[in-house]
Amino acid sequence: MRNIKLAGIVLGLFAWLTMPAHAETVASPDGAITLTLDVDGEGKPYYTIARGDEAVISQSGLGFNFIDTDPIRRNFEIVSAVQTSGDSTWEQPWGERRYVRDHHNEITVTFREKVENDPRTFIIRARAFDGGVGFRYEFPEQAGFDTANIAEELTEFNLASNGTAWWVPAGDWNRYEYIYSETPVDAVPMVHTPFTAKLDSGTHVAIHEASLVDYAGMWLRRIDGTRFRAMLAPSSRGAKVVRDLPFHTPWRTIRISGDAAGLYDNDIDLNLNEPNKLGDVSWFTPHKYIGIWWEMHLNKSSWASGENHGATTENAKKHIDFAAEHGFRGILIEGWNIGWDGNWFGNGRDYSFTKAYPDFDYTAVTDYARAKGVHLIGHHETGGNIQVYEAQLEDAMRLYGATGTDSVKTGYVADAGGIIAPGPDGGEVFEWHDGQRMAQHHLKVIEAAARHGVAVNPHEPIKATGLRRTYPNWVSREGARGMEYQAWGVPKNPPEHVPTLVFTRMLSGPMDYTPGVLSLIGRDNTRIPSTLARPLALYIVIYSPIQMAADLPENLAKYPEELAFISRVPADWAESKTLQAEVGDYAVIARKDRNSEKWYMGGVTDSEGRSVSFALDFLEEGRSYSAKVYRDGPDADGLGEERHDIRIETTQVKAGDLFEIHMARSGGFAVEFVPE
Ligand code: NOJ
Ligand code: CA
Repeated sequence: MRNIKLAGIVLGLFAWLTMPAHAETVASPDGAITLTLDVDGEGKPYYTIARGDEAVISQSGLGFNFIDTDPIRRNFEIVSAVQTSGDSTWEQPWGERRYVRDHHNEITVTFREKVENDPRTFIIRARAFDGGVGFRYEFPEQAGFDTANIAEELTEFNLASNGTAWWVPAGDWNRYEYIYSETPVDAVPMVHTPFTAKLDSGTHVAIHEASLVDYAGMWLRRIDGTRFRAMLAPSSRGAKVVRDLPFHTPWRTIRISGDAAGLYDNDIDLNLNEPNKLGDVSWFTPHKYIGIWWEMHLNKSSWASGENHGATTENAKKHIDFAAEHGFRGILIEGWNIGWDGNWFGNGRDYSFTKAYPDFDYTAVTDYARAKGVHLIGHHETGGNIQVYEAQLEDAMRLYGATGTDSVKTGYVADAGGIIAPGPDGGEVFEWHDGQRMAQHHLKVIEAAARHGVAVNPHEPIKATGLRRTYPNWVSREGARGMEYQAWGVPKNPPEHVPTLVFTRMLSGPMDYTPGVLSLIGRDNTRIPSTLARPLALYIVIYSPIQMAADLPENLAKYPEELAFISRVPADWAESKTLQAEVGDYAVIARKDRNSEKWYMGGVTDSEGRSVSFALDFLEEGRSYSAKVYRDGPDADGLGEERHDIRIETTQVKAGDLFEIHMARSGGFAVEFVPE
């Protein structure tokens, strides 16, 4: 009897495993979003995505080209599918919110090649969340297929309708540092991710990737109409990705929401990353910092040695005094180490990461800082030369870790494709900032830094893909046009830049935008298009666990009330909520302090003056708050003469009260809610 039952189960399992190909679907927990996997009449694997009755992604191919074997593209069948689900909550050591819920349904579908000998198989693991989907390819160990030498990934993203898109170009010289373009979807060229679109139906979509480990970054190239295909960042080797089996790709993620707010208040990329591998990282403290930095960008001093050298012992001490007086934990000092004389851009062959210029006494400066409770923020500009950097990496991190310099800003200033990497026989090869070699490099740096208790903030980085969950010492990065362009950029970042960043670059993770230029003046007395209230808003609207007050100390000191706000505003949050927003137009975000009961709110607008009104629903019921409001004054105009007109007022509010405020052109506001 027992044996017959077992035979029945085995037969049933066999029948199920050998079922003819048919579509497999996974739905989000709320049932609204569905992803379907299937093969067409030629055995070509594909997927589709819908939100309710609306097709969001229509039939989109899956597959690979290799440099040494047949493509994976046609002649496959589905041989099994397994569904599971998950609902858990995990805690971030720091972040936009303390607790993150991971609620999803998952399907793993196995595709097998329809050939007699050594049929290849791959799995698509897909997860559907209420806020979108993620899927990745998995290659199990298999006979006759040991190493994947990937020429191209053939994943398509065939948007089902036209709409408006926000994007920066991929494959061009300036990496991610472009002003965003806003165009119809069917006019987009080859772009970086996160790539954001509002479809004609009003549905918002953002395509990105999660957990980019040992693989090339994914660009999106529009093939025709509204159909995009993956284009992996190149490699000097020929194959863009080389991986031994078994392995899996990064997750391809598609956030889907009825509005802009739902794109940003969305944790699917973090949820698709592995949990913390570093254990206790309480040695990293979210903080704000000043720097010997803006003066170089203004051309008032230089990174290079000589009379104008910015990083002198004396200048460092002056900055440490200012930091201590105004409550800044960190001070970034660029240009203290040897290698800045001559052409370092895309070169970096002369850098030492441990030897100081003669007018900078590293030990004296770090001792002085320690005595005042201030920490240096180290700097490793590489000029894109990871051959030189990797050779010194351990020593460089050891020096910082041993001297209280517990975070480092790294930099890879080189044209795209100009990364100098160690080649065979000790020579040099040239790589891309987001190729497989750089994905490996960044994790090498993160792991070396972690060994020495150092947090990392790369500029000219690889894009963020949620790896801060796995490596919480990867605290921030640049990866878009930041404040430096307000010093010397031609043109400067336009008013719509920040309300676009929030729904593009910021979907990928924290950004070291380096706000806090209260003088609103760039190089050669050029005007930054902003009101005075707006830089205060940036500390809330642009999230980073390290936030700079970038202006010269003497400029910051001219605005004591605003400086005091910057000194008080948290860099670590218990909760975050997008209250009102339209991509590229405006954004209003509220965040609750991780270490107190205070709430903060910030808003920014584009080149249109704009009034917003909404109920303060996020405040705690039954509690009254004193709200200190920093808003554009009646004459304020971020694009005109009166950029510094600001009103600072305190009112009493409670949950549910109507809040109304006006933002001037290129203006904004900040509010601090203190419970009574
Ligand atoms: C570019 C970075 O974005 C900037 O912050 C830095 O000052 C320079 N490189 C020099 O490293
Ligand atoms: Ca930069």
